[in-house]
Amino acid sequence: MFGGTVWLLQSCIEQNKTDMTTNGIKIMEGDFQTPLPSPPAFDLKNTTAFEAKQTQVAILKGKKTNVYGYYDGMLGKTFVLNKGDVINLKFTNSLQQATNIHWHGLIIPSEMDGFPAAVTEPGSSFEYRFTVNQRAGTYWYHPHPDGLTAEQVMQGLAGFFIVRDEEEAALKLPNDDSEIAFVIQDRRFKGNGDFDYNPTNEEVMTGFLGDYILVNGAFNPYKTVKAAWNRLRIINGSNARVYNLAFSNGQNFAVIGSDAGLLTSPETVNNILVSPGERIDMLVDFSDVANKDIFLQSESFDGGGVQGKDTFKIMKFAIGEKANEPFTLPTTLSAIEKIKPSSATKTRMFDISNASVHGGGMMNMKMDTEDTTRKTGSNMGENGMNKMKMDMHSINGVGYDAAVINETVTAGATEIWEFDNSKGSELHPMHFHGNHFQIIERTGGRGKLIATEKGWKDTVLLLPGEKVNVITTFSQFKGKYVLHCHNLEHEDSGMMLNFEIV
Ligand code: C2O
Ligand code: CU
Ligand code: CU
Repeated sequence: MFGGTVWLLQSCIEQNKTDMTTNGIKIMEGDFQTPLPSPPAFDLKNTTAFEAKQTQVAILKGKKTNVYGYYDGMLGKTFVLNKGDVINLKFTNSLQQATNIHWHGLIIPSEMDGFPAAVTEPGSSFEYRFTVNQRAGTYWYHPHPDGLTAEQVMQGLAGFFIVRDEEEAALKLPNDDSEIAFVIQDRRFKGNGDFDYNPTNEEVMTGFLGDYILVNGAFNPYKTVKAAWNRLRIINGSNARVYNLAFSNGQNFAVIGSDAGLLTSPETVNNILVSPGERIDMLVDFSDVANKDIFLQSESFDGGGVQGKDTFKIMKFAIGEKANEPFTLPTTLSAIEKIKPSSATKTRMFDISNASVHGGGMMNMKMDTEDTTRKTGSNMGENGMNKMKMDMHSINGVGYDAAVINETVTAGATEIWEFDNSKGSELHPMHFHGNHFQIIERTGGRGKLIATEKGWKDTVLLLPGEKVNVITTFSQFKGKYVLHCHNLEHEDSGMMLNFEIV
């Protein structure tokens, strides 16, 4: 154990000295010859059960990759529902390790939300039952077991949960072939074709970055689209990588929605940062680029540490003949009532700079090697370092403990939550469950809100030096939920806490 301690101290000291770019990795570029796959739609009318299981898929030429999926493929089937629809499904865990499902962005009872300690053991089942009663939006689902979320999402567990409503339908946005949903994820591969996920301590510090960019599970795919307006609904389902999305021809696009549905009006931009957990809903007009290839790419940005170093292509849009599909960008999209800061009854501060871990507070490391819950099935190495990796990140100087209620809030109360990364050197996408929020302001760093941040949100990116205030009115669903960083290595290494709605 002492060897471990010294080693870890050493690594923290080195961390402060070395340029974090040293583990930046070069991104591979594919041939953009694979058509963009789309997970099949979940047939809610005729399906009563689904499972998480191990399966094999072809991602790299001539190789098979062992993955996890919620069906016979990587990822999961796409749920498409209308507001008011009911979910009543028996979920079976056919994996070798405990798992559960978190419905990211849904406002549902605590028992259905995938609390980290509420897991379904291998071979067991759990009934997910809830009513979808919230605005249209691009939501998603993924596992959330304590300490195993990063690994299971990396292995392929994630899916779309798209909610439609009348307000959105009335806009007659591009649909059918012109509405394209995709999730962007980065991966590393072993020689045999399997995913390579065995983060070093340094990679747990920064978050794990892959060198292959997958879209809906395909490496650098292409999609044939009309030379007209298209709607792109994008999830950043990567463990840690932030993308600065832009088109290779530099063209504008209109952001029409974010995490929890439509903005009040379109925001026209030519690039946008999307961090892990966040969603973006955009309309892009390809009518001027008929018969051309346009790439969706990520451009370099100043993200501190290892992030944002490169510009790289993500996927190709093969634009067809000019289509006669007239569409005018609506000037207003949705009515969003602003929550007044004066209505907040409490402000809570969350220090996410992790100063206590990087600085003098090494005592926060719990040296408990007896912690079995988090080791179950983990392939992160059984060398007793697991628990220390767990507490390499913190919120308010405290690492995650499933048994502790860190904050208690009142159902229906309005509060301001302040995330403070002003002394931090890493970026953190902060997310909490079971409630949507509005962002009031960002100070430090970029010093302003960006286009996607003006509607309802459930995840917000803080670059180093930034402080963000969000406001929310807590739901009526009493029980335990979590607040965490959606950099999944950070989450699994302690950057999460529990709040209970009472
Ligand atoms: Cu998508 Cu608690 O996370
Ligand atoms: Cu969530
Ligand atoms: Cu983080």
